Amino acid sequence: MATEGQKVVLITGCSSGIGLGIAVMLARDEMKRYYVIATMRDLKRKDKLVEAAGDAYGRTLSLLTLDVCSDESVKQCVDSIKDRHIDILINNAGVGLVGPVEGLSMEDMKQVFETNFFGAVRMIKEVMPDMKRRRSGHIIVISSVMGLQGVTFNDVYSASKFAIEGFCESLAIQLLKFNVTLSMIEPGPVHTEFEMKMIADVSKKEFAGTDAETLQHFRTYYLPSAVNIFQGLGQRPKDIAKVTKKVIESPRPQFHNLTNPLYTPIVALKYADETGNLSVHTFYHMLYNLGGVMDVSVRLMKCLTCGCLRRQTISPV
Ligand SMILES: NC(=O)c1ccc[n+]([C@@H]2O[C@H](COP(=O)([O-])OP(=O)(O)OC[C@H]3O[C@@H](n4cnc5c(N)ncnc54)[C@H](OP(=O)(O)O)[C@@H]3O)[C@@H](O)[C@H]2O)c1
Repeated sequence: MATEGQKVVLITGCSSGIGLGIAVMLARDEMKRYYVIATMRDLKRKDKLVEAAGDAYGRTLSLLTLDVCSDESVKQCVDSIKDRHIDILINNAGVGLVGPVEGLSMEDMKQVFETNFFGAVRMIKEVMPDMKRRRSGHIIVISSVMGLQGVTFNDVYSASKFAIEGFCESLAIQLLKFNVTLSMIEPGPVHTEFEMKMIADVSKKEFAGTDAETLQHFRTYYLPSAVNIFQGLGQRPKDIAKVTKKVIESPRPQFHNLTNPLYTPIVALKYADETGNLSVHTFYHMLYNLGGVMDVSVRLMKCLTCGCLRRQTISPV
């Protein structure tokens, strides 16, 4: 149970990846400022988290079952927490979906929205009234850079993240009146099971109903560049956890929080040209005309930002 002065943090989707990373980083806080309720839909998947949490498990970290797609599961979980008191809610659970729209089933598309959009809304709806009553709380959503900029062949995933961005941008205004803060974390690619699931999913699917030309664009242009981007620019869950902790600890948290500075110019493109053509055409060229160049650019950008060049400069002593 949380001790006096500790902040109670509930995180969804902690069986792997970013959720696991955030849960462990907060639970292992040196000053023990957080009591983490790490939730997952299937507790049989708890071993990786328990191992990574080490001696924090049972002290500053406990586990509960929670499926963000079920009203009953969400209510049962929140009701089981002492006084339903949650200081910080981190909506992390999410699923991906890539491929040509014609080849994706409506069922799969709805599942993405059910998890990424309605899952987060369901959590907020359950936890927010208590925060408003207490006039205190912080709601965090692990969104994506794709919630700010659409990316081809990620149409539905991107739409689900745009939807949650729009929902939260609207809600944040009202919540300010109740001293409740809302923050979006917007990662670019991160090495987690998400990436593996995407590769496994794509290799299994035939995308029936998609014309041969579109399928060829998907397999020969998009997929290799997606793999390159993950390899070249991918962050680790620990990097996202660090940004999230910084946001939690900030006296005046920002609403938008990109985790990868390399994506700042990409997002800026759409605000630089109100017609929208600049970003659409730039992405078109990057995908269809600059495949090879992009590979080199990704490596170059990674090299420039890794810090090794800075470390090698001679200091003016
Ligand atoms: N990896 C990236 O490149 C990336 C980039 C930007 C944003 N994000 C976002 O980051 C978040 C975490 O993803 P990740 O990269 O850490 O992927 P991950 O390793 O696949 O983790 C996703 C987590 O969500 C859980 N989940 C899925 N459906 C759920 C449900 N109905 N109820 C409760 N939990 C559910 C999964 O649980 P199970 O183990 O039961 O499946 C898993 O714990 C997602 O919102 C994703 O959109 C990821």
